Amino acid sequence: MTEQLLIRGGKPLEGRIKVPGAKNSALPLLAASLLTDDPVVLKNVPPLKDVGTMLSMIRELGKNIETTDQRTVRITGGIAKNSAPEELVRRMRASFLVLSPLLGRVREAVVPLPGGCNIGTRPVDLHLNGLSRLGTEIGQADGKIIARAKKLRGNEIFLDYPSVGTTEQLLMAAVGAEGETVIFNGAQEPEVRDLVNFLVELGADIEVDGSILTVRGADELHGGEYEVLPDRIAGGTYMIAIAATGGHATVDEVRPSTLKQLTLKMRKSGITVNEGVNSVEVIGDNRPKNLEVRTLPYPGFPTDLQAPISALLTIAEGKSVVKETVFDSRFGHVAELRKMGADISVPNSSTLFINGTDGLRGAKVEATDIRAGASLVIAGLASSGTTEVSGLEHIDRGYSQLVENFQDLNAELERSKIDE
Ligand code: EPZ
Repeated sequence: MTEQLLIRGGKPLEGRIKVPGAKNSALPLLAASLLTDDPVVLKNVPPLKDVGTMLSMIRELGKNIETTDQRTVRITGGIAKNSAPEELVRRMRASFLVLSPLLGRVREAVVPLPGGCNIGTRPVDLHLNGLSRLGTEIGQADGKIIARAKKLRGNEIFLDYPSVGTTEQLLMAAVGAEGETVIFNGAQEPEVRDLVNFLVELGADIEVDGSILTVRGADELHGGEYEVLPDRIAGGTYMIAIAATGGHATVDEVRPSTLKQLTLKMRKSGITVNEGVNSVEVIGDNRPKNLEVRTLPYPGFPTDLQAPISALLTIAEGKSVVKETVFDSRFGHVAELRKMGADISVPNSSTLFINGTDGLRGAKVEATDIRAGASLVIAGLASSGTTEVSGLEHIDRGYSQLVENFQDLNAELERSKIDE
């Protein structure tokens, strides 16, 4: 039985909601729990399908997992096997992050190559090149990576691209390597910093200076407790939705400093954004003005908010330009937004020209990835009439309580079953 979202648009969002812990921090933190046999407690873990997949992964590898309440996870036990189940890695790319912890603990790891997905090819060459620099022998057989390292040795690594996953993968390898590792041109996303803080909590010796991360390998890490940072991408998605519906609402439990680039863009578009200590108030009292948006590695504009802000720009005044520089095909939302009346042209594979119209109309649309799905929900909330969004399995991977949160903000939407 498949489900869809039924959205009756046109109502300004009002009220307050809280964002959960960050998906893109919880996933590497769960992988990192493999680095010690001592108990690890993670708090503010978002109840998401992807988190469920990673929990299955580490359970499969030997860990015992108790979820004391919906958002606290206690992980105990050791590693019982060194190969990651293919089905789980295929289902979620982030599972590839178990490679380094397995390698560091049991000297050999067998992990399937993650597939590409709907936002591009997404190779792992930078992961593998970095691990080789630390003394890993990398083999490949029937779509699996076989990595071996009697002892990982620290080294200098320069990343050709400040890849988030690569930085996380290499941090988790370097903490168990002999000697010092310096990662140059490392990713600076807040979720990477969360992993650094967690590893330090477990006894690792890591210094961060902008894009340079220095790790002095320790023999063993001990257990610890850590709280996942708030999800800036979920927070930013709700901020954009409030503006797109001409609403007035507050998003709690965000760290405004992690959303600076979005806040400044929204203010430039004429939207009022008031930053609190750990909240952001958005007042969409004017029609948004057009913008130029270019996605970049942090602290640049986040690629994960490109589809959501594109939805806002379809109803802005004037012509906007959106450049996607991080992934090679992340425009799955465009064809669907056009079904709702959006005027978008794609002059090349990394650019959108968006002519703002004075309103979208409801339509049947389909989500093709997490953030494209969010973009369609935003467009549905902002449009007149009813929008039916299918492909909820994508949205549920990245947004917990999305329907409940929007209902709390006065939106009219519900999940409904699609008769086959
Ligand atoms: C993380 O993916 C996030 N996922 C993504 O969020 C996010 O969009 C991305 O970082 C960028 O911020 C998680 O954290 C689980 P990258 P990741 O390695 O680590 C290329 C979402 O919607 N690349 O920084 O895979 C890659 O193809 C998801 O929540 C290589 O070429 O991103 C891409 O073009 C989507 N070789 C660019 O780098 C490599 O070895 C950035 O990828 C690795 C990456």
